[in-house]
Parts: sequence; structure tokens; C-alpha cells
Amino acid sequence: MLQERIVHIKEEGEKALQTVKTAIELAAWEVKYLGRKSELNNLLKGLKDLTPEEKQIIGPQANDTKQSLLRAFDAVKEAFLENSVDWEKERIDVTAPGVSVARGHLHPITQIEHEIEDIFSEMGFEIADGPEVETEHYNFDALNVPADHPARDMQDTFWLKTINNQQSTIDRKNTKQERLLLRTQTSPVQVRYMEKHTPPLRIVVPGRVFRNESTDASHEHTFHQFECLMVGDDVTVANFKWVAETFFSRFFGKKIDIRLRPSFFPFTEPSFEFDISCTLCNGEGCPVCKQSGWLELGGAGMVNQKVFEAAGYRQGKYQGFAWGFGTTRLAMMKYKITDIRLIMSGDLRFIRQF
Ligand code: DAH
Repeated sequence: MLQERIVHIKEEGEKALQTVKTAIELAAWEVKYLGRKSELNNLLKGLKDLTPEEKQIIGPQANDTKQSLLRAFDAVKEAFLENSVDWEKERIDVTAPGVSVARGHLHPITQIEHEIEDIFSEMGFEIADGPEVETEHYNFDALNVPADHPARDMQDTFWLKTINNQQSTIDRKNTKQERLLLRTQTSPVQVRYMEKHTPPLRIVVPGRVFRNESTDASHEHTFHQFECLMVGDDVTVANFKWVAETFFSRFFGKKIDIRLRPSFFPFTEPSFEFDISCTLCNGEGCPVCKQSGWLELGGAGMVNQKVFEAAGYRQGKYQGFAWGFGTTRLAMMKYKITDIRLIMSGDLRFIRQF
């Protein structure tokens, strides 16, 4: 009886398959003839209850039938897939012109920062980093900028407020609540770094800084700076001059001279501003350097002992130089950009030129 039943299932299944016309019908067919609850499957599951003699005959027959129906099903499925694709449409015209993919690149300021980092790394400097949201302590106090210094004027600094409109504060070492600001210079990283390291040390700090001032072609509220610090037992101005000359000569790819002029910064003593020989006329005099042969580039000096003290060093134990200059300014010189506002504008027509 069982044998006949299996033969019947096979015949009926094959016949039904021939009338299948849609994918839905095919799926229904699969459920009915090969599914978990199909008659054939039930039969296979029941094999274990048969006598060994019956098993020997029915087992292979039921399995063969299943395989055969499965093959028939696969063949029809394959044909369905084949026909559902419009091969004419799928044909690829290998001679058609390609669509170019727009490639991005690093922002010109980032490119310059990488160049600067490379040059300083070769001279044995480490690259350090600090937060853009800074405390009053690191941005001003620790750098010996007294409370009545003009740089503290509300006009120059972006102070932060919390949502409930109070000055935001940070609990430094759980002893003092402090006001927060957007750092106005990269110099605070000097103290942050020295607190954690003991001389000799050499670091460069590229970073973004913020000034609360009105903008024009040469002023921007957000720009980039570069800080350099070298501290040891006997670091001198001569070391600074050599490092600066070497850096600028490598950066501009030609011999650059440095000139120091006396100046004042609270965090250095003595302090100076430094000029580099004009990169356009090599010091001969031209409109860019206003015929002087020199370009003003940054501030520098020997680290004020008060700054060392703020970082936890004993007064008089070490000496070192610090200098800072505008990465943005350097980019403008290198690429002959005449309006600083273009740099952070995010205008792709500008950025794509680099
Ligand atoms: N922090 C100064 C500024 O933003 C630049 C500067 C001057 C940095 C003298 C220094 C320095 O390290 O020694 O104007």
C-alpha cells in the first residue's frame, strides 16, 4: 500500500509542477510536496515505525522520490529566475565613458600642519595636544597673564555659559570652581604638558584657537596656531634661533634668516617678536614685505620662571624657549591667500584649489 502511495505522490507532484505558472504557485507547490508537513515528509518521518523488511523497501523508494521531486523543483525555479531577468537590459556596454568619482582631500590648514609636524619630528620634537575648551587657569593664570591684562577683556575671549545661563565651571582637583572659555592661544598646552613631564622636553602643539573680535581680511574669530616649547638645563635663545631658522628654511625650501625684536609677553622673559627674511624677495625689498625685506611671523621668548612654577617645577631649575606663530598666516603666505576668512568658510570652490 505504502509503495503505491509513494508512486502516486511522485506522479501527482510532477504533474502539478507542470501547471505552475507563477513564483507564488511554485512556492505553494514546494510547501505541498516538499514542505515539513507534506505527505512525503510525514511518510519519511514514519519510517522508524516500520518493520525492518518494510523499511528496506520503503526507505530508498521514499528518499528517491524526494530527491527526484527536489530536482524537478530546482529546475523549474532556475527557469523562473532566468526569465525574470531582462538580459538585454543587463548587458554592460564596456565602451561607455566612465563617471568620474569626486575625491576629497585634506584641508589646506591640515596639510600645512602635517608638514610642520614632519619637520619638527625630524628634529626630535614630540607632538602634543590640548583641549579647545580650556579653563581660565591654563589659558591665563598659569601663563602669568594677570587678571587685569587686556587679553582678559571680555571682547577678546569667548567665555562659555551653561544652559541655565550661569558661567560654566569646572572642578579642578576638587578645590576650585573655574570658568571655562574657548582657548585664545595654544600656549596653555605648555603648562598642561609640563605638569606631566620632566625636562628635557621638546614639543610642538598645532591647534585651533578662538578670539572674540570682529573679522576682516586679516582677522578671523577662529584660526590655527602652532606652539613650540623646548626645556632643559641649558636651553638658550641661540637654540631657539637655530630651531626657527632650520624649520622655516625647510618649510619654504630655501635659506631663511630670522630677526629678533624685543617685545613683551607675560609668559616669557625676555620676550621677542621674530621676523623671517621675506620669502618672495629674499630680503631685497618688495611690496609684500613693504620694502623692509622682513615678514613678521610670531612671538617667542625664554619661558618665564613663573610659568615653570605653575607647572610644578622649582624656580630657577630649568630654562627653555617657547614660541608661537599662526599656522593660518603661514598657509596664507605659502598659498598667497589674501583674505583669511576664506580659510574657515567651508567654501568648496576655495578648498578644492589645494
Ligand atoms: N600665545 C601668543 C599669542 O597667541 C603667541 C606666543 C608668543 C606664544 C610668545 C609663545 C611665546 O609661546 O613665547 O599671541
